[in-house]
Amino acid sequence: MRAILRQLISRRCISLNTRPKTVIKLGQPTFETRPHIIPKPGNLTPGISALEYFQRRLKLATNLPDKSLAIIIGNTTKFSSGSVFYDFQQDNDFYYLTGWLEPDSIMILEKRGSRGDDDVVLHMLVPPKNEQRELWEGAKTGLDGAYEFFNADCVEDVGKASTYIKSLISSANTIFYDNKYNDRSRSKSAFSSFFNFGSGDKLEGLNDIVLNSGKHISPLSAKVAALRKIKSPAEIEVMHAAGQISSRAINKAIGQVGSENPIAAEKTLAKYLEYQFVRGGCDKQAYIPVVASGSNALTIHYTRNDDLLYRDELVFVDAGGKLGGYCADISRSWPNSTNGFSEPQKDLYEAVLNTNKKCIELCNESLNYSLHDIHEYSVTSLRKELQNITGFPHLSNFDVSRYLYPHYIGHHLGLDLHDVPSVSRSENLVAGNVITIEPGLYIPEDDRWPKHFQGIGVRVEDDVVVGKSNDEIINLTSGCVKEVVDIESLINGGVTTPGIDDELVILDI
Ligand code: GLY
Ligand code: MN
Ligand code: MN
Repeated sequence: MRAILRQLISRRCISLNTRPKTVIKLGQPTFETRPHIIPKPGNLTPGISALEYFQRRLKLATNLPDKSLAIIIGNTTKFSSGSVFYDFQQDNDFYYLTGWLEPDSIMILEKRGSRGDDDVVLHMLVPPKNEQRELWEGAKTGLDGAYEFFNADCVEDVGKASTYIKSLISSANTIFYDNKYNDRSRSKSAFSSFFNFGSGDKLEGLNDIVLNSGKHISPLSAKVAALRKIKSPAEIEVMHAAGQISSRAINKAIGQVGSENPIAAEKTLAKYLEYQFVRGGCDKQAYIPVVASGSNALTIHYTRNDDLLYRDELVFVDAGGKLGGYCADISRSWPNSTNGFSEPQKDLYEAVLNTNKKCIELCNESLNYSLHDIHEYSVTSLRKELQNITGFPHLSNFDVSRYLYPHYIGHHLGLDLHDVPSVSRSENLVAGNVITIEPGLYIPEDDRWPKHFQGIGVRVEDDVVVGKSNDEIINLTSGCVKEVVDIESLINGGVTTPGIDDELVILDI
């Protein structure tokens, strides 16, 4: 724990320089325009180089037949009401293959033949530079930017997409494409923005162009998932930073319990965590967190976060930050009391903690475990742990899963919180997979269970890189305290590490 904090602190260097002089204006951060976010030349997004993006595309192409196209229509801006838009979220397969973060864009990977790099062509169809529009919305990367920075081989105005795509399709045999627009009404609105913005004459949906092309169409997402499920060293480094920053934020939240002004409401704690994720160096929170006092934790996806934090109840948090697109995902429970855990809280907490630690030990390729095997192990482990707690009747594994632990041990983690769901839970885990390990116990308010355990919900969730051997397992969130004694000492003493409150504005990835 100390080593990790030392490492984090050594990364902090808050010396603000004068604004870099640059004439390049792009629609997303680059080394040239935002060196505090992308401090390394050659990186296109935090921690990930342009070369790595290129290699991902080549790897995908090796799994495609000659004369094929992989087409991804990126996401559009979504609106909550009227002109109020949500934070833009790019299609993650598109992002994984290009690093491109602007809405209303299309990427097509063309595999012409099998003569290596020369036969793999990246086409990017993107919104063009437009002075009037940029006056309101800010800089766009434009066609030149797509070519110069994102290494597209061919670029075109997305407004000309239908003609461009038809022409490419005419010389292809196979198309890899995911029909995200099954619902025609969504399809229309998703595509209309392209056409409003382009030359204005194309009313035919791009989806229809692809689907009605008469060519053989196969799903693309499973091909990209096969790459995404194994993280590169660079991805692991970014995820480690997200995990460490998020761990520290949660430690600080635990440290608030015994402070002069403890946090009094779930919503305040939710926003405190979000602030600490960003202050620590993340871009944003990775998902709407669960912040639940006491029995609110029995609702697995409790995101109302609108209750008070009652003294002596357990505070239950499932939260994480996002950095460079990569998610952290941590759950912890701690007593909202300077007296520490009550006996029943501690009994259940330790049952879950022991299971969490034993399951992390299984994230070792050489053991040939699948996620499902680890899940089954976790059910058995929780059952055995409960047998040692007075007041629990003799339970079967079925009882445990049905009544007390109704969710799964974990999921792959990466650009998506539940990353690449097309990966089967039954396949053996291999080195480079990143998964969560998140056993929990939630005791219903039902007299079948001892009164003093009712309404207690606990989960201990860490983010783990599967290793080739036991020594190579990496717990990306090991900095987040979880031993009872460490939690209780944080509650009473707060986080006192020097520099812990500094704002991390200059990333070192
Ligand atoms: N935060 C959602 C999950 O743990 O899967
Ligand atoms: Mn979680
Ligand atoms: Mn999770």
